[in-house]
Amino acid sequence: SIHPVILCGGSGTRLWPRSRPARPKPFLDLLGGRTLFQRSLDRVGGPARFAPPLIVAGAAHVAAIEEQAEKSAGARLLIEPEPRNTAPAIALAAHALAPDDIMLVCPSDHHIADETAFLAGVERAAHLAREGWLTAFGIAPTEPATGYGYIRIGEPLAGGHRVDRFVEKPDRAIAEAFLASGDHVWNGGIFCMQAGRYLEELARHRPALAASVAAAMAQAEHRGWQCHPAPAPFAAIAGESIDYAVMENTDRATVVSAAMGWSDIGSWDAVLAARARDAAGNSATGPADLVECRNVLVESDGPRVSAIGLEDVVIVVDGDEVLVTTRAGAQAVGRLPGACGQ
Ligand code: GDD
Ligand code: MG
Repeated sequence: SIHPVILCGGSGTRLWPRSRPARPKPFLDLLGGRTLFQRSLDRVGGPARFAPPLIVAGAAHVAAIEEQAEKSAGARLLIEPEPRNTAPAIALAAHALAPDDIMLVCPSDHHIADETAFLAGVERAAHLAREGWLTAFGIAPTEPATGYGYIRIGEPLAGGHRVDRFVEKPDRAIAEAFLASGDHVWNGGIFCMQAGRYLEELARHRPALAASVAAAMAQAEHRGWQCHPAPAPFAAIAGESIDYAVMENTDRATVVSAAMGWSDIGSWDAVLAARARDAAGNSATGPADLVECRNVLVESDGPRVSAIGLEDVVIVVDGDEVLVTTRAGAQAVGRLPGACGQ
């Protein structure tokens, strides 16, 4: 079976004021019912296909995880003493598995609308992973976004393609060229590979990082479902993402394309797009009276929000903070003093 590895870290300042350092994006209920973290667990919960999950998270998020995760038998929580980005986080999980176990690395800050398409992609990715490839999930790009990795599609293989080149977070001009080329896809941030193969590639391209993670795991402490890697060797790591550390450098990368309704829910505008909406395109959480409004998102944790005649507007009320922006302006929320001065 496939071992899901759920990554929780970082904090999406673009979803301020709902997202705060103590309550980052994965732990928010943005789409109704379940948080993004819970939805990530749900997607890989089918016992016929998946082993119990490994959750990798920072010490600051343990309380949120213990509250939100329904512990399936055998689930494990790996706790990073310090945030060191995704290359070491994934390596911790790889050390907790057997070398030929197939791991499916899942971010917890995404929305996937079509789970059937996701699971079909997982099957194809797992097939490639069993043959020793590090497999990314390719998403058809729709704009020259600079916050994603770009993959140039190479020669076809069973179920996918070789990665011809992987470029993490290009600048705007390069992103525009990639989009125009028609042969690039976005990296969806989901990876499927054998645990041992990942550690080999990490050791090849980032030997110091790989050695520090190995030392931290060799001296790890286990308490119940929690695993605490040794703090000193882990803190010595220079943090880096899997994208820069491994995917840009390895020659063992493949990609499967998956039309699965992927969104990284990177802004309030993306939240509105992923939500259930009424006939006028509005979506409200909390008390709201919207009169002659269209495509308006309201999120309120208490006060009633009343609005007349608005179009393409986002209103978020959270504790002592209120955000009002156009949908287009939602991209810039992370630059507000309130969001970045937290
Ligand atoms: N445990 C742990 N520790 N998780 C982390 C850490 C960490 O130090 N840092 C980030 N994460 C988690 C985040 O919570 C998220 O779920 C996932 O790992 C990816 O990290 P991001 O910080 O959100 O990465 P990104 O969005 O800038 O870029 C990645 O995702 C894009 C797609 O959304 C890259 O893989 C890009 O290539 C990709 O296009
Ligand atoms: Mg992200």
